[in-house]
Amino acid sequence: MGLEVVELFAGVGGFRLGLEEAGHEVIWSNQWEPSIQAQHASNCYASQFGDDNHTNVDIKEIDETEVPDHELLVGGFPCQDYSVAQTGAEGIEGEKGALWWDIERIARQKRPRYLLLENVNRLLRSPTEQRGRDFGVLLHCLHDIGYNVEWRVINAADYGYPTKRRRVFIFGARRDTEWGGWLESHGDQPNYFTRRGFFPREFPVDNRQQQQFPVARNPDASLLGDPKETSESFEFHFKKSGAMVDGDVWTRDVDPESEWETTLGDVLETGGVPEKYYLSEDEIERWEYMKGSKEEERVTDEGYEYTFSEGAIPFPDPLDRPSRTLLTSEGTTSPGREKHVVEDPATGDLRILTPIEVERLMDFPDGWTDTGMPENWRYTCMGNALVVGLIEQMGRTLNQDPEMETSHAFAQMNSG
Ligand SMILES: C[S@@+](CC[C@H](N)C(=O)[O-])C[C@H]1O[C@@H](n2cnc3c(N)ncnc32)[C@H](O)[C@@H]1O
Repeated sequence: MGLEVVELFAGVGGFRLGLEEAGHEVIWSNQWEPSIQAQHASNCYASQFGDDNHTNVDIKEIDETEVPDHELLVGGFPCQDYSVAQTGAEGIEGEKGALWWDIERIARQKRPRYLLLENVNRLLRSPTEQRGRDFGVLLHCLHDIGYNVEWRVINAADYGYPTKRRRVFIFGARRDTEWGGWLESHGDQPNYFTRRGFFPREFPVDNRQQQQFPVARNPDASLLGDPKETSESFEFHFKKSGAMVDGDVWTRDVDPESEWETTLGDVLETGGVPEKYYLSEDEIERWEYMKGSKEEERVTDEGYEYTFSEGAIPFPDPLDRPSRTLLTSEGTTSPGREKHVVEDPATGDLRILTPIEVERLMDFPDGWTDTGMPENWRYTCMGNALVVGLIEQMGRTLNQDPEMETSHAFAQMNSG
């Protein structure tokens, strides 16, 4: 008896793949790419899952009353405005960040039992000049609509996936649900974040810290005030894990208890990949320059002189550990600092990753995006996606009665 799910900002369906594995059912979805006319991600989604109840229009055009009733609302909302890679990021007020308000109006209208959202972890600190304001606004809204909230920064590599990808996951539980009540009665206790909460069940943390780092409760962190005031004056240091219960915030840092590791080397195709993925000999020097550390005098367009410096990125990428985070800029063999380059184990030559390898990094089935889109878009879609298995794990927790501890958490409880 899974939950009926609505998936927003669906991309190529990372949430759906994970949730369906855990027995939930997506009954309506939306995906629209504003940057180009061709709708590659939406087409891929429709060809993989069928186009029944899939909509390919700007979310802003969707009237919230037309979204069907559902129990779980999910979405990895566009993160450009919070991303450190973006200069001039404007946070929740920026054009992309403003898409939060579309989630908000749908949640307010439909009041599903649960929400599960994903974003870059920088959302917790954004914007720079008023740290924590955007997340404070988000929590304020959810409180106002009737939710208690738990969040956690999770790096996929810490839990056995072959890529580093640090994202904040936000779980909202309507106050009259089992999880909403559980948060209400337990969310203020230190062990909520190390074993009893929604996230630590599948994503265990080092329990020994419990005494050293009790939950910090900021007495000024009440979100019950006026929203305008929250927006103008709210500042708060949200940590990696936390809860908002009835407008009060509880937050603490936690360290993952890593259990096993898969590596970049584990996802490489064996048996030879086409020539087109190999770097050209003539460009190796340029690659080395771009990947290397540098300290250079540069001049801005306005004539202002400054020293530019950056550290080195391993070249090629090491195969014996999880990969660096995949961005949307991969996919061609022209030199690029952030692109992944590997030494092919069979030939010993340098090459970029193949589309199948980036799908494996994100825990998608091989060939998932091979649905007719240009190859560079296959990389873009994976750079935007989430690590599917993490969502499957969260989907399993949603199937549990919160009173029931998982065997892992239970074992910890008996030993801790
Ligand atoms: C961070 S990605 C989510 C990817 C998804 N979780 C996956 O697994 O593929 C955000 C998605 O929102 C879409 N998007 C951006 N603006 C939108 C809008 N105005 N309406 C609907 N979708 C939008 C983007 O095209 C992108 O696919």
